This record gives sequence, structure tokens and C-alpha cells, in this order.
Amino acid sequence: MSQRKVLTTQVAIMGAGPAGLMLSHLLARAGIESVVLEIRSHQEIAETVRAGILEAGSVNMLVDGGVSDRVLRDGHRHDGIELRFNGESHRIDFQGLVGESVWLYPQTDVFLDLSARRKADGGDVRYAVTDATIHDIESKPKVWFTDADGVEYELRADFITGADGSRSHCRVQIPEAQRKWYFHEYPFAWFGILAEAPRSSEELIYANSEHGFALISQRTETVQRMYFQCDPGEDVRNWDEDRIWDAFRSRVNGNGFEVKEGPVIDKTVLKFRSFVHAPMRHGNLFLAGDAAHTVPPTGAKGLNLALNDVRVLFEGFDSFYSTGSTVLLDAYSGRALDRVWKAQQFSYWMTSMLHTAADADDFSRARQLGELHSVVSSRHGSAYLAEAYTGWPGAR
Ligand code: DHB
Repeated sequence: MSQRKVLTTQVAIMGAGPAGLMLSHLLARAGIESVVLEIRSHQEIAETVRAGILEAGSVNMLVDGGVSDRVLRDGHRHDGIELRFNGESHRIDFQGLVGESVWLYPQTDVFLDLSARRKADGGDVRYAVTDATIHDIESKPKVWFTDADGVEYELRADFITGADGSRSHCRVQIPEAQRKWYFHEYPFAWFGILAEAPRSSEELIYANSEHGFALISQRTETVQRMYFQCDPGEDVRNWDEDRIWDAFRSRVNGNGFEVKEGPVIDKTVLKFRSFVHAPMRHGNLFLAGDAAHTVPPTGAKGLNLALNDVRVLFEGFDSFYSTGSTVLLDAYSGRALDRVWKAQQFSYWMTSMLHTAADADDFSRARQLGELHSVVSSRHGSAYLAEAYTGWPGAR
């Protein structure tokens, strides 16, 4: 311990994903110092395929927040999605229903924009650190870590933000008696692919079929992202291209629509569950993003929730450092969880409405179709979906 080099900052941020980097960026703009520590390398994060939909509020944080306006040039605005069931597509018109849009802009690009901005602004972001442990979260927090060159440090901070993802080391430091974990498991997972093919449609297609769910998303003119429902124990090695395209064909093709096929260049099984850690704060440790909650991917809410957390948390730090008041820091967990639970409900609802359980009986299948019809045939039903998908107002 005596050989550790001592570093001091105001906010130590664990994790250089979108939540950690965005928080560091917002703090820097307000003149508040932070150090970001990340166990993965920059390259490893940049090469991980993640989700792709940003709410307008998230786009505003990037553009108006001074990170980058690349999303407006390289991203694609989507004014609606298609819900497809019984072989027919039904458009949910976000603009017509709630006057909003979303942007297709992969999380990898959000990360690249944020990491480039932090670098250009001289931010202290350390990748590939090892042996990071947090201490004294109820008093004067410290982080011990070893940097990529093997130098050992003690980082002293007023606060620690745990933005270290769904396998967070930070959150397990909170005493069990002081927190509650909420879980929900689902009996399915997603098989995700990247394929070299043109776009199959202008907008995303969320498809329900008797063979299970499929999602036709996009990346570029020549590479597409698509998913189909699979068993959580599925092994990608059991799936060659013919079998993969058969799965998509049986779930989305019909009535004149055909998914555009091409070489599969990436395949992964994505397991998911609903999880909430409450409260999102203990002492001087604040949790943000996947460290505090995960949602199933069907509503495209994960990244947007993470960015909302840091927007709310930043207001707390900003108010504390400019006025000395802890009111907004004390309100952080409640304010953030308000949106987290709305997103949990929406993601759970989309997941259960669109996936087909292996043991679904005739009643459940017919009821599910009744639910889908009640959404697409009612302005009120569609508007709930449109409002939740594009992001609830009040959070901007
Ligand atoms: C993508 C992922 C999602 O979970 C979703 O709901 C929509 C799009 C994507 O990766 O493109």
C-alpha cells in the first residue's frame, strides 16, 4: 500500500461504457474532475456488437451536450416500426402518434464518439486496468487499481460512480441488508447475426409468429443486424447459414415480404433477464446503467436508460459542487428508478407480447394475437407503444 501512487479526483468512475464516459464528459463541462477506470481495452469495447436504437433524448445528449453530431450524419432517423404477426405488417407511426422519432445508431458508435471527445478534451480515462477494488464507500472512497503499465495506484475521490456493467463489481460492495435485488428470468434468448445483405425494409420489423419472435434491424447499406428467438442454451455452432435463414424465413416471410439474405459474418446467443438493484446509491457510491438494472432487449431501452441515469446523476453532482446541497444527489435513486420501472414494464410487455413460449397452449397463442390486434387497431394502444419506444417525455 505504501508504494501505491496516490491520485486525487472529485468523482471516480468505474467503467468506460457510454454511461461512464458520458458522465465524465458532462462533469468536465461543468468544471468537475473525474477519472474513469475500465478493465477492458479500448479495442475490446469498440469491437463488441451492441444494440442500436437511440431515443431523441439520448441523441440530444450527444449533439446538444457537445459530444458529437455524427449521429445526425451517420445515424438514421426512424419515424416508426412495423409489428408483424399472422403474416401481416402493421406500422406504428411514432411521428403521427406522439410526434417523436428514434435514431438507428449503434452503441459502438456512441462509445467511439464519447471516447474520442474525452480524449480530445484531455479527460483521464484509463483502459485495461487490473485488480480494481473499491473501498470505504460509506466514508472517504478510494479505488485501488493497477494500470496497463503495471503501476499500482490509490485513487481518492469524493464519490464513486459504478458504471461497470451488468457484472458490476461495485454493486456487490453494497451490504445485502441495504439493498434489494429484483429479478425476472425469461425462457428464451436471442440469436443475433450480422449479415452482408441490403436492407429488407425501411424500418425495423418486430415479428411474432407461431415459430417464435424475430427482429429485422439494420446497420449500414450493406450490413444488417437481425435476431430470432432461441433457447437460452443454444450453441451457435449448431447453426449454419441455411438453418439460420430458414429460421428467419419461417418467422417473417409471407404475403409478398421476403427477408434479404446474405453471408452471415457474426453470430451470438444473447441471454437476457430483467434485473433491478434498489436503491441505486449507498453512501458515496452511485450505480448507473447496467450495473443497476438490465432489461430484455425487445424495447431497445438499455442504453437509453443508462444515459438517462447519468443525466440525472450529473444534475446531483453539479448541484452539490456548485451549491453544497445534497438534495438532488439524495433524489438520484428515486428519480432514476422512476424511469427504470417504466422501462422494465415496457420491455417485459414487448417481450411477452412478441415471443412464443415453447409450452404455449391454444389459449395463450390466441390471446397473444388478440393483444397484438388490440395494439395495432387502437390509436390509444399504439400510442402507448410509440410513447414508450421513443422515450417518455419529461426526461429531456
Ligand atoms: C436493435 C436491438 C434491439 O434490442 C432492438 O429492440 C432494436 C434494434 C439493434 O441491435 O439494432
